[in-house]
Amino acid sequence: MKRTLFITLLAVALLGAFTLSIAMAADAPKNDVEIKFPGDTKYGPLMFSHAKHAAQKCESCHHKMAENPDMKCTTCHKDNSDKKAPTSFDSAFHAKKSPNSCVGCHKEMKKGPTKCNDCHTKK
Ligand code: HEC
Ligand code: HEC
Ligand code: HEC
Ligand code: HEC
Repeated sequence: MKRTLFITLLAVALLGAFTLSIAMAADAPKNDVEIKFPGDTKYGPLMFSHAKHAAQKCESCHHKMAENPDMKCTTCHKDNSDKKAPTSFDSAFHAKKSPNSCVGCHKEMKKGPTKCNDCHTKK
C-alpha cells in the first residue's frame, strides 16, 4: 500500500517537472526584443522578432543554452576588437558560414533578409 502511494507520488512529481520544463522552454519573448550594440553606432535600433522565427528551434540561435541558461547573446559576444573572432559581437549576427547567425541561417535557408539595409536603418 505504502509502496503504491510512493510510486504514485513519484509519478506526479516527475510529470510536474516535465510539464514545467516544457513551459519554460516555450517561453520566448512575445514582443520584439532590441539587440543593443555596446558602443556608438550610425544605425537605428534593431528589433528582433521571436514570433517571426517561431518555426526555428531555440537552440539554432541560443546555441549554448544547454550549458548556460543565459539567453543574451551579448553576455558572451561582447568584445568586437577582432570582428572575425567567432566570439565577437559581429560574428554572432553576421558570420556567413554559421547556421547560428542571422545572415548565415538566412543564406543557408534562402529565406529572410541578407542585405545590410534589409535589417539596418540609418539613425
Ligand atoms: C532566430 C533566432 C532565435 C530563436 C529561434 C530564438 N531566439 Fe531567443 N533571442 C534571440 C536573440 C537574437 C535575442 C536577443 C539577445 C540579446 O539581446 O543579446 C533573444 C532573446 C531571448 C530572450 C531574452 C533574453 C534577455 O535576457 O533579454 C529570451 C528569454 C529568449 N530569447 C528565449 C527564447 C526561447 C525560449 C526560444 C525558443 C522557443 C528562442 N528564444 C528562440 C534569437 C532567437
Ligand atoms: C555562454 C556564451 C555564449 C552565448 C550566450 C552565445 N554564444 Fe555564440 N558563441 C560562443 C562561443 C564560445 C563561440 C565560439 C565557438 C563555440 O565554442 O561554439 C560562439 C560562436 C558563435 C557563432 C559562430 C561564429 C563564427 O564565426 O563561426 C555564432 C554565429 C554565434 N555564436 C551566435 C550566437 C547568438 C546569435 C547568440 C544568442 C542568440 C549566442 N551566440 C549566444 C558563446 C556564446
Ligand atoms: C536558424 C535560422 C535563422 C536564424 C538564425 C535567423 N533567422 Fe531570421 N528568418 C529565418 C527564416 C526561415 C525567415 C523567413 C520566415 C518566413 O518567411 O516566415 C526569417 C525571416 C527574418 C526576417 C523577415 C521577417 C518578415 O517580416 O518577413 C527578419 C527581419 C529576420 N529574419 C531577422 C533576423 C535576425 C535579426 C536574426 C539574428 C538575430 C535572424 N533573423 C536569425 C531564419 C533565421
Ligand atoms: C539578417 C539581419 C542583418 C543583416 C543582413 C546585416 N546585419 Fe548588421 N547586425 C545585425 C544584428 C542583429 C546586429 C546586432 C544589433 C545591432 O548592433 O544593431 C548587427 C550589428 C551590426 C553592426 C554593429 C553595430 C552597429 O549598429 O553599428 C554593424 C556595423 C553592422 N551590423 C553592419 C552591417 C553591414 C555593413 C551589413 C551588410 C554587409 C549588415 N550589417 C547586414 C543584423 C544584420
